[in-house]
Amino acid sequence: MIMARMAQLEEIKQISLVLATSWKTAYRGIVDDDYLDALKTDHWVDFLAKGLGGGKVFSMVLLENQDIVGASILRKSEKQGEIHMVSLYLLPGKIGKGYGHRFYREIESKIKEMGYSECSLEVLSNNERAISFYLAHGFVDEGNEGIALLGKREYPIRYMRKSINMEKELGVNLRHWRIEDAPDLVAAINNKKVLDNLRDGIPYPYTDKDAEEFIIAMLGAQKDTQYAFAIIYDGKVVGSIGVFRKDNVHRLTAEMGYYIAEPYWGKGITTEAVRQTCSYIFENTDIIRIFAEPYAHNVASCRVLEKAGFQLEGVLHSNAIKNGQVTDMNMYAVIKH
Ligand SMILES: CC(C)(COP(=O)(O)OP(=O)(O)OC[C@H]1O[C@@H](n2cnc3c(N)ncnc32)[C@H](O)[C@@H]1OP(=O)(O)O)[C@@H](O)C(=O)NCCC(=O)NCCS
Repeated sequence: MIMARMAQLEEIKQISLVLATSWKTAYRGIVDDDYLDALKTDHWVDFLAKGLGGGKVFSMVLLENQDIVGASILRKSEKQGEIHMVSLYLLPGKIGKGYGHRFYREIESKIKEMGYSECSLEVLSNNERAISFYLAHGFVDEGNEGIALLGKREYPIRYMRKSINMEKELGVNLRHWRIEDAPDLVAAINNKKVLDNLRDGIPYPYTDKDAEEFIIAMLGAQKDTQYAFAIIYDGKVVGSIGVFRKDNVHRLTAEMGYYIAEPYWGKGITTEAVRQTCSYIFENTDIIRIFAEPYAHNVASCRVLEKAGFQLEGVLHSNAIKNGQVTDMNMYAVIKH
């Protein structure tokens, strides 16, 4: 069983061990070998003893069957309502398996519960894996702004931050479709401005019967190939999001599609729905890559994907014909870490 909780003072040595082991593995190629080789497993013991004792620093641990497999250190910042995430580390064998996402979510719910509304952090600029991890959790990259001194060498660092009350304020949720959602689905999709940005094949005008057929198909879809959710905002169905698994050698890859009713555009709802869907897929399935192919001119959709941590992998030139126009598409993807 995996769970996170606040660390106890007597766990300082184990936490330092997790940090040192993680540094020595995850930072190979990012930080000089000399520095990593010289790191002792008790490197953080004094810092933790002073910090945890002083009340300004606290730590959370991730446990698997009672063993500590991850640790995070957090420090109250000078700024009111802000917490600084000093570190989040997993034992090397636990990296790339969804433990980090799970751990981060538990940390975030704890800091929310403690009343913090902002979380800041610093990350080495060449630690791409960590940067995309934090982007996927809604952190905003504030740029390449500082320097960290590790041993004798200086490394550029980036500052990232997240407003952690946003989701609560937005009230965005996902749930499986229900047949009674048909009228809301019709209201969302029966709009040329929405359809013009989707693939062909969706009826227009879209009737209650079309919506019911779609919902029945989604509810009856093969469990491991299609994941379709209604997007709920303030208790109302406002859109649709789905992830569709590819086959053959692409069977660990899935395509994402979404749309939202026009009155709800521009409120960050889709960005939040995309984030939640990716977390769900990476945590509950063996899918390791989620991609989306918006038309290149669909700026809002491209922006949604970027905000949700997708990377633009390239432009697919003249990849589609829509409404009689040959058009480029952008290939965006997010990879499970
Ligand atoms: C694309 C779509 C899902 C976006 O949903 P949304 O809930 O409005 O998205 P968000 O509010 O989370 O983010 C939209 C972002 O795009 C930006 N944006 C919107 N229109 C823009 C434009 N014309 N130029 C530049 N930026 C634009 C917004 O400012 C916002 O970015 P910001 O937060 O940095 O300001 C919605 O417009 C939609 O359903 N469109 C029709 C269907 C569709 O295109 N689906 C995607 C197919 S790939």
